[in-house]
Amino acid sequence: EKNGISLKDSYKKDFYIGTALDVNQIEEKNAKEDSLIKKQFNAITAENIMKAMFLHPSKDKYDFATSDKFVAYGEKNKMFIHGHTLIWHSQLAPWMAEIKDSTEMKAFMRDHITTIVSKYKGRIDSWDVVNEALNEDGTLRKSVFLKTLGEQYLVDAFKLAAAADPKVDLYYNDYNNEEPAKRKGNINLIKKIKAGGGKIDGVGIQAHWRLESPSIEMIEESILAYSALGLKVAFTELDITVLPNPWDLKGADVNQNFEGSAKMNPYPEKLPDSVQVKLAERYASIFKLFLKHKDKISRVTFWGVYDGQSWLNDWPIKGRTNYPLLFDKDLKPKKAYDSVLKLK
Ligand code: XIL
Repeated sequence: EKNGISLKDSYKKDFYIGTALDVNQIEEKNAKEDSLIKKQFNAITAENIMKAMFLHPSKDKYDFATSDKFVAYGEKNKMFIHGHTLIWHSQLAPWMAEIKDSTEMKAFMRDHITTIVSKYKGRIDSWDVVNEALNEDGTLRKSVFLKTLGEQYLVDAFKLAAAADPKVDLYYNDYNNEEPAKRKGNINLIKKIKAGGGKIDGVGIQAHWRLESPSIEMIEESILAYSALGLKVAFTELDITVLPNPWDLKGADVNQNFEGSAKMNPYPEKLPDSVQVKLAERYASIFKLFLKHKDKISRVTFWGVYDGQSWLNDWPIKGRTNYPLLFDKDLKPKKAYDSVLKLK
């Protein structure tokens, strides 16, 4: 920051440095935040704007007003534009979740993917075609898509997207897909898509990580395994929570309501220096690994610009104060920012 160095410029020769953006950010509501975004990042992902519930609110209605602004913002600022996401079980419009048979679901997929991908043909650089289709054990999630169409829906989604824009990069995106069991399932899924004649160019590792996990070894094994399949690897939603998670708890604790619990929100005012340092070290070891494999990595995108607006303040427990990003709630660079820049 001080010397005018930025993340995107320091990593220019290595990979894109991206951020997720939501509506108020592309509307340039906050001048200080707006200039930080333009200075630090050269890739953008829509945090919510392009999800099915917003783009396709009812069967015969698409609403591209906000996504048009999002794409125009990226173009104006010469940013890499990533589309998120076409086929996902979450944040669907209510009418989609009610589709019961294969004929209707096939028609939905064809219309939804073709309309959206064609609309932005040549303007969006890559798409998350399918998001979060896997369970933790590597089996396929019993989503409305799997229930109505069986596993063929995965192949079809990639075929439809490629037909609508043959040049755009197509990704499969998921969380915890650096963990061995889920990674194995993800590798099978990629092989199935390819065997079925689908075009897939990359895999997105969401990277909603923690201070202590996953291990650097596990991440490295995943970069190597996915790129061995001929795919680009992108880290698509990077953030590192410093707060306890409810699913670590056992027994009676599990069923508590944690909203407002001090135990689950240990740093409501400020992150202690010791944790600030741990976060900086964690980010440094992650980026060191990314640099080691820069030839295999297309993009590293943070899930948000600064701590104050991160989704992790409200998930999986509402109303906490989390510190997962490189800029603090006042938009100032943190120790973690310095540690990532110092590697260059
Ligand atoms: C999250 C957004 O950050 C929140 O604002 C929204 O309320 C829920 O979705 N995996 C994904 C993202 O692929 O789309 C999710 O984004 C985070 C988890």
